[in-house]
Amino acid sequence: MILPALFFLAANTVTFSRDVAPIFFEHCVRCHRPGEVAPMSLLDYKSARPWARSIGEAVAVRRMPPWMADPHFGTFSNDPRLRDSEMATIRAWVAGGAPEGDPRELPQPPAFASGWELGTPDVTIDIGQTYRLKPGRDSYEHFIVQTNFKEGMWLRAADLHPGNRKIVHHAHVNIVQSEAQAGATTIQGDDFAERLSAEGRESDAH
Ligand code: HEC
Repeated sequence: MILPALFFLAANTVTFSRDVAPIFFEHCVRCHRPGEVAPMSLLDYKSARPWARSIGEAVAVRRMPPWMADPHFGTFSNDPRLRDSEMATIRAWVAGGAPEGDPRELPQPPAFASGWELGTPDVTIDIGQTYRLKPGRDSYEHFIVQTNFKEGMWLRAADLHPGNRKIVHHAHVNIVQSEAQAGATTIQGDDFAERLSAEGRESDAH
């Protein structure tokens, strides 16, 4: 009687290799992999295991994957939120001691483009200078760049490539409409954000 009972337990244990890795590969590793924005890799068991408890918490309250859109309005083709069944799998994995399982069951990790992830852009705009961050508290800098567009343009997608992802945390992109700003290349100073909104900033993005 004991043997079949044990067998049943083993077959139902939620493991990293078989159950959890496919979820991480689909929802997490575009940020949680070496060289990307998130603090640790979730591509392999050794890197993910120390974070198991924290993963359980972050997922349960939907802090991860980050998604600011209000779930009650609209549907988005790139909505990264976890399905309830995936949240339950992660919860069971953490509760079960976050075991690895059989590494041979690990699926192939997704392939990522090494350059522009959304495809080669039609237009690239460089900030035109190398900015060196001074040690100390968080720093907010403002760079004005020319689009050189001659007419109104529709954007399908935009991507930002910081030179050093370890120190760049956020970027806000605004359209500057005022003539007064048109010739400037860089404005630094705490009052800049207020001036932008006073002068008609049009759109905002993270
Ligand atoms: C869009 C990028 C992105 C995706 C997708 C993403 N993360 Fe994160 N994650 C981050 C960043 C950035 C941080 C660091 C947060 C900070 O420093 O404030 C982080 C931090 C964490 C932390 C540390 C503790 C915490 O809650 O801040 C855990 C755990 C975590 N992520 C788990 C996950 C899991 C599990 C998934 C997939 C289900 C996921 N993340 C998907 C970007 C992402």
